[in-house]
Amino acid sequence: MQAFTAFLVLFSLLTRAFSVPLSTKSRWIIDDVGGQRVKLVGGNWAGHVGPMLPEGLDKRPLSEIAGHIALMGFNSVRLTYSTYMFTQYSHLTVLQSLRNLSLHDAIDGMTKAQEAVINQLASHGIMIVLDNQVSKPIWCCGDDDGNGFWGDEYFDPKDWLRSLHIVAHRYKNNPMVVAMSLRNEIRGKRQNAKDWRKYSNPNVLILVGGLSYALDLTPLKTKALNIKATSKLRNKIVYESHRYAFTMGQSNNYLRKPLNQFCDSVIADMENRTTFVTRGPNAAPLYISEFGVNMLGNQTYDNVFLGCFLAYLAKHDLDWNMWALQGSYYLRDEGQGVEEQYGMFTTNWTQIRNPDVHAKILSVQQMIRDPKSHAPRYLRMYHPMTGRCLSVNDNSTQIHATDCHKFSKWSYNNLVIQLNGTPYCLASSGEDSPLSLTTDCDSKRSTWKAVSSYQLADSDNLCMHYDPSYSPYVLARKCICAGSGNRSSCVENPQSQWFQRVLSNV
Ligand SMILES: *[C@@H]1O[C@H](CO)[C@@H](O)[C@H](O)[C@H]1NC(C)=O
Ligand SMILES: *[C@@H]1O[C@H](CO)[C@@H](O)[C@H](O)[C@H]1NC(C)=O
Ligand SMILES: *[C@@H]1O[C@H](CO)[C@@H](O)[C@H](O)[C@H]1NC(C)=O
Ligand SMILES: *[C@@H]1O[C@H](CO)[C@@H](O)[C@H](O)[C@H]1NC(C)=O
Ligand SMILES: *[C@@H]1O[C@H](CO)[C@@H](O)[C@H](O)[C@H]1NC(C)=O
Ligand SMILES: *[C@@H]1O[C@H](CO)[C@@H](O)[C@H](O)[C@H]1NC(C)=O
Repeated sequence: MQAFTAFLVLFSLLTRAFSVPLSTKSRWIIDDVGGQRVKLVGGNWAGHVGPMLPEGLDKRPLSEIAGHIALMGFNSVRLTYSTYMFTQYSHLTVLQSLRNLSLHDAIDGMTKAQEAVINQLASHGIMIVLDNQVSKPIWCCGDDDGNGFWGDEYFDPKDWLRSLHIVAHRYKNNPMVVAMSLRNEIRGKRQNAKDWRKYSNPNVLILVGGLSYALDLTPLKTKALNIKATSKLRNKIVYESHRYAFTMGQSNNYLRKPLNQFCDSVIADMENRTTFVTRGPNAAPLYISEFGVNMLGNQTYDNVFLGCFLAYLAKHDLDWNMWALQGSYYLRDEGQGVEEQYGMFTTNWTQIRNPDVHAKILSVQQMIRDPKSHAPRYLRMYHPMTGRCLSVNDNSTQIHATDCHKFSKWSYNNLVIQLNGTPYCLASSGEDSPLSLTTDCDSKRSTWKAVSSYQLADSDNLCMHYDPSYSPYVLARKCICAGSGNRSSCVENPQSQWFQRVLSNV
């Protein structure tokens, strides 16, 4: 446990080695001074609901919350707010707002507001991304909540622009406020695909979210944002997208459809509608500003979704903020003190609700690709179900999986998987036996072919398999839903056999 804490501290120090402000270079976010890549990783902190205050200030001292976030290895927080907080309700004091909502419990522990939160985060080395989540301070988001975009009941364009202006101005002198979104999850009938581009005013706005609940940036395929070649904003635009298991009502598909094919189709959809912005001559960063799972751990489709999504996140080494940090809300539709089951913190904000999920996401917190590195490229064999990477023990040739800070480096030529810088190749030792290393790289035992996007099978059609509840080693076992048999009717979960080959140079 102590070692783990020490590791976290070290890790958070490492990730804190950046300077602000930030800009972009092709698909990467970089710091202005040294041009080094800065990978935004962290959580969302809701501050847009009912009382318009960052949640949790009634549960635990602010400085402790900020310190805990830094200890989790996060370097950024996406803090959500509502437009009205800076316009129609700007005259309300914290006390009035809470009294208005009869939130007497919250008043007791509550002395500071958004600015205090931002200052505390900044003093803990955490960058802040300000997100214009809604206009009227209510829970987000539905097609008919009146809180979307152009023409919606609570969307007054002047009010919206005014609040962005106020917010931008207010934090102008705090360099740790590194990004502002223009609007969260544009959606519904009045999302105005045609006008969306026009109103993405690049003079004030930096984070540009996709249409349809931040799923769709395809209007950019036909026409890029209208930013002058000489404008400083050319190096300031970052695109946002969101994804959950329940996106487009697909939760049950993660359980009922053949998962290899279904996960491929979800990723193809993301590639087609959002990830494309990271490629080509106009490449820009894509920031997954929301994704998340139920942290109680018993929502099976969420767990399956996470494996699928982490494979994608690692492959592209995208920037991300998980939904969400808050373990509870002062007030949500259901009432006061409601717990956030997607919350990383427990309801009392003192502990990590699901250490297992936290350990998995650690593997994508580190930088996987460094655009400035001249180090040779290699593959990480990433196992998204556990968030671990294929590794060789110093002393033994037995293959296991470790956290992705101590992984081994590999190459794969569609046949042989070689340990970089050595004559060793990965070999199968037969069914249910741990894989091993061999120098006989030409033998049948050391040939591996892809039988699905993430499964590799040996010459006997046995797949690489890792399930720590079954064996600490990586074994060769019968391929699940791949290789042979009727794959279109196979609904077993093959994720124990998923190894994403992630290109890396750090
Ligand atoms: C506070 O109360 C006033 C009057 O009761 C109401 O008009 C206003 O909308 C309330 N504000 C909030 C933030 O609920
Ligand atoms: C890509 O997305 C566009 C826009 O949503 C859609 O019309 C098209 O069918 C998609 N293409 C593929 C291959 O999914
Ligand atoms: C998960 O566990 C909680 C608490 O035990 C329970 O209330 C909830 O119904 C469970 N959810 C599922 C999907 O099983
Ligand atoms: C906070 O909640 C967790 C789990 O719900 C519990 O184990 C812990 O004792 C609580 N801590 C405090 C200080 O109440
Ligand atoms: C690994 O090798 C080192 C040095 O050769 C030795 O000190 C260590 O005990 C070995 N560890 C195991 C688990 O065999
Ligand atoms: C494979 O399974 C699907 C779904 O159960 C079924 O529709 C199809 O007929 C099966 N194909 C073969 C060749 O058995």
